[in-house]
Amino acid sequence: MPILRGAAAALLLAATPLHAAGLQPLPPAPATDAAMAELGRHLFFESRLSGDGSRSCATCHVPERSYADGEPLARGYNHTGHFRNTPGFAGMRLKARLTWDGRYRGDQLPELVAEMLTSPVTMNADPGIAAERVRQIPGLLQLWRRAFGERALPTFDGIVRAISAWTALHDGGETAVDAALRGDPLSLSPLAAKACACSPARPGACAATTDPRCPTAPCTGSACRRTPRCCATRSAR
Ligand code: HEC
Repeated sequence: MPILRGAAAALLLAATPLHAAGLQPLPPAPATDAAMAELGRHLFFESRLSGDGSRSCATCHVPERSYADGEPLARGYNHTGHFRNTPGFAGMRLKARLTWDGRYRGDQLPELVAEMLTSPVTMNADPGIAAERVRQIPGLLQLWRRAFGERALPTFDGIVRAISAWTALHDGGETAVDAALRGDPLSLSPLAAKACACSPARPGACAATTDPRCPTAPCTGSACRRTPRCCATRSAR
């Protein structure tokens, strides 16, 4: 069965216009400095970076909640209410703009991280005190030296660099469609492969549907876009 399923998927993919529809696989993640990212991971969860030691990045960006917090508005520093919702980190490296008002470009993650650390409404950190605290925590100092060199002393810029390196790693991973676009026909289930066969680049792909809710006329490009459910329904039969 798996072989048959694979062969069917391969045939379908050969016929599907995933590429013709203009889809490209996501670019691969850039190379990562593992020691830097590991330091950043520890700093991300380190509440002693905040002014009064009460909160870390992870207080608001909660891993179990896809790095959001499930609240309508973030809980700000020192029981203040933040005026914005905490965004999650999915697709971090692919974002063109950061924050709800887009005031940072995607490549300005370090500037944003510095703001998160120092803003009175998020962590209220003093740059000098934050660096000194890292120096005084043996475990962190050890990780620091692995990332920055044996004689390196903690600095605020280094803290920002390490946290940014780790934060940038969150991209949600490769999807089945990415793998299919890279030429792996087995990555899509037969149903998904069929659903992909109906795209604006392949007019008429929905024409054979027998679902009464779907248009009877051949499904041309824009109709395909309007009624994607029809494509999936047809595929399920
Ligand atoms: C008080 C809760 C809170 C804390 C603590 C916090 N953040 Fe945030 N974070 C937010 C909120 C709220 C926003 C949205 C800000 C905006 O739109 O102006 C945000 C935005 C972000 C974004 C942009 C995400 C996007 O998709 O636009 C990143 C990245 C981020 N924070 C990382 C961090 C890091 C790293 C730390 C620790 C140094 C941190 N945050 C600490 C609440 C918090």
